[in-house]
Amino acid sequence: MPAFSASAPGKIILFGEHAVVYSRPAIAVPVQQVQARAIVIPDPLAPRGRVWIQAPDINLDCAAGELSEESPLRKLIQILQAHFQIDHLPACILRVSSTIPVAAGLGSGAAISVACLRALSAFLGAPLAVEHVSALAYEIEKIYHGTPSGIDNTVVAYDRPVYFVHGQPIEFLSVRQPFTLVIGDTGRRSSTSGPVGALRQAWLANSPPYEALFDRACEIARSARSDLEAGTLSRLGSLMDENHALLVQMGVSSPELDRLVAAARAAGASGAKLSGGGWGGNMIALVEPELAEQVSTALLESGATHTLITQVRP
Ligand code: MEV
Repeated sequence: MPAFSASAPGKIILFGEHAVVYSRPAIAVPVQQVQARAIVIPDPLAPRGRVWIQAPDINLDCAAGELSEESPLRKLIQILQAHFQIDHLPACILRVSSTIPVAAGLGSGAAISVACLRALSAFLGAPLAVEHVSALAYEIEKIYHGTPSGIDNTVVAYDRPVYFVHGQPIEFLSVRQPFTLVIGDTGRRSSTSGPVGALRQAWLANSPPYEALFDRACEIARSARSDLEAGTLSRLGSLMDENHALLVQMGVSSPELDRLVAAARAAGASGAKLSGGGWGGNMIALVEPELAEQVSTALLESGATHTLITQVRP
């Protein structure tokens, strides 16, 4: 019996995280070196409608029905059934694995959703179009944190650099010149809901200073977009530095992130910032290709648990 498999990349946010939740633009790119993968194996001898989940990375080996109501994988199956207007899936085993660190700002939740939606819809004989994959993954993102902008599911599902504004048609970004980034992991896990929720509370209590930060992040994302499209990268690093300073003021950085950002700059990066939700997870540094190893070593010496060198290509 055939198996149905699908994968989806990780992502990084180059500019505009958090401000994007407040309808400002943000830029994100897929990261191919890390991937989530889903495999669906038909299980015709199992009881009717039983979906058995195997996700060794998170120690799951049970029927979907045994998962808690809030479990994203359980919700994903419900959302898929509602989309196809069926009351159960044919019995199957859903195997989920991922090399994307969880709660690290690299889009692990979105990538797992996208891979599972693709593999399960192929198993149903009705592979979902990319816009439906993204829309359904967005519904699941809401479980991870209540007010997602939609940028993670979009960049992961379309697997292309995006200039994203919540509620507006997706704009893909054509990166004119390749450039190199070093991604450094603080090793501290932080789910997006923490910093997103705290920032919302702060914004609700006193919105004007936060609105000003979001406006400045918006200008930075716009400038970065025009530089990336023109292939002029000379001020991209300083735009990253400035964006990081704004994220610090939004209260979403952490001592570990600040330390790695400073270490990357001291080792010759043109600019650096946290990427994603913050409070932990990953930071990114823009580097000349010949400095990538040097910056990576400096990050490891400053406490990064691991690093990744990636090229963003046209
Ligand atoms: C998370 O990757 C990016 C945030 O801006 C949240 C969101 O856009 O939903 C922090």
